[in-house]
Amino acid sequence: MANVAVIGAQWGDEGKGKIVDWLAERADVVVRFQGGHNAGHTLVIGGTTYKLSLLPSGIVRGTPSVIGNGVVLDPWALKAEVTRLREQGVEVTPDTLMIADNCALILPFHRDLDGLREDASGAGKIGTTRRGIGPAYEDKVGRRAIRVCDLAHLDDLDPQLDRLSAHHDALRAGFGEPPIDRAALLAELKEIAGFVLPYARPVWHMLNAARAAGKRILFEGAQGVLLDIDHGTYPFVTSSNTIAGTAAGGSGLGPSAVGFVLGIAKAYTTRVGSGPFPTELHDEIGTRLGERGHEFGTVTGRKRRCGWFDAVLVRQSVAVSGVTGIALTKLDVLDGFETVKICTGYRLNGETLDHFPAHAADQAAVEPVYEEVEGWSQSTAGARSWADLPAQAIKYIRRVEELIQCPVALVSTSPERDDTILVRDPFAD
Ligand code: IMP
Repeated sequence: MANVAVIGAQWGDEGKGKIVDWLAERADVVVRFQGGHNAGHTLVIGGTTYKLSLLPSGIVRGTPSVIGNGVVLDPWALKAEVTRLREQGVEVTPDTLMIADNCALILPFHRDLDGLREDASGAGKIGTTRRGIGPAYEDKVGRRAIRVCDLAHLDDLDPQLDRLSAHHDALRAGFGEPPIDRAALLAELKEIAGFVLPYARPVWHMLNAARAAGKRILFEGAQGVLLDIDHGTYPFVTSSNTIAGTAAGGSGLGPSAVGFVLGIAKAYTTRVGSGPFPTELHDEIGTRLGERGHEFGTVTGRKRRCGWFDAVLVRQSVAVSGVTGIALTKLDVLDGFETVKICTGYRLNGETLDHFPAHAADQAAVEPVYEEVEGWSQSTAGARSWADLPAQAIKYIRRVEELIQCPVALVSTSPERDDTILVRDPFAD
């Protein structure tokens, strides 16, 4: 039996929510290992919609859920999300939610800085979610972060606050902002500490014990591989490693703890925020994909950019993340097209490339090489077996598998959890 890591194989928003929920129901523990409340996972359970940004998806069904050390945690966003869920009747207790005591915090000035920098960046704007994710990770790596465990030791925080002030006050002055108000910050931290601390513990300890006891662990990735700080479309990326390899380090387990890596990919491509997107469509086909796929951001409500499936990028994601099987989502959005295109390579300066180049200017300049395949007129929405799919849709899936060099483990044909064609159960491996 394998533990399973679920990661996005594109630029996020691949429809992880439904698949994670399906796996979370059978997992013993669900762990978030990177990112923060920039993520947006929508779960539809028993006709009720739950929107999660920071909490692991297992929380709604009462599966023990862990926020690992690789996450950056905004304690006020945590409180708001827990409060919202309680209003929806979901219990969140220290038995169902565990937060790594060595997890770095997102503080109010991180959020300010994220917005100030975006506004000042002109054409270099990343299009972040403005939630302070990048600045919080910078402080973590800069050894200035305040962590969850510090909330129990607020009287000992002076050296850390000195480091934070030395860095941030200079930055803030540059933006015409006043220095960090230490007294106000300490008062806010004191107030929120009482909410966060009951959930705090050395989760690595508990996870290693769970693993030794043969429990099923589900690692829930956020964003997607193309937003990875190393492997993504830098600098138009998020500030964490989103690849499956982070599941171990971001939760306090060794690399062998991750068995099956399930990569989620849409049958087409979307992206929110700035950055290169070779197969982006600015025509009525792009509009149609966006409308049929309801492509608006869960967190920011921004309209997502849409384009054809890019097999080069997904093949790259499969490789750098060690994906075992793909969950192909939103196939029904392609229903009714006379022909469907798949990007199989790029042209750059007269050469053909079989991978996405590293340099931002080259990434922006590549032209997609397309293969055009016959579409299908019948609906695939709600299909639950291969027999329910038109032959051309099956052909499309088979061609995608060939091009990305990875088998499809499941196909999702609507937001309903039963509308799924299961080829290979990740937990059964
Ligand atoms: P940040 O993570 O807020 O710093 O944003 C950096 C980039 O990642 C921006 O392009 C965001 O739109 C994108 N991003 C962050 N989180 C998500 C997500 O959950 N889904 C899709 N895009 C995301």
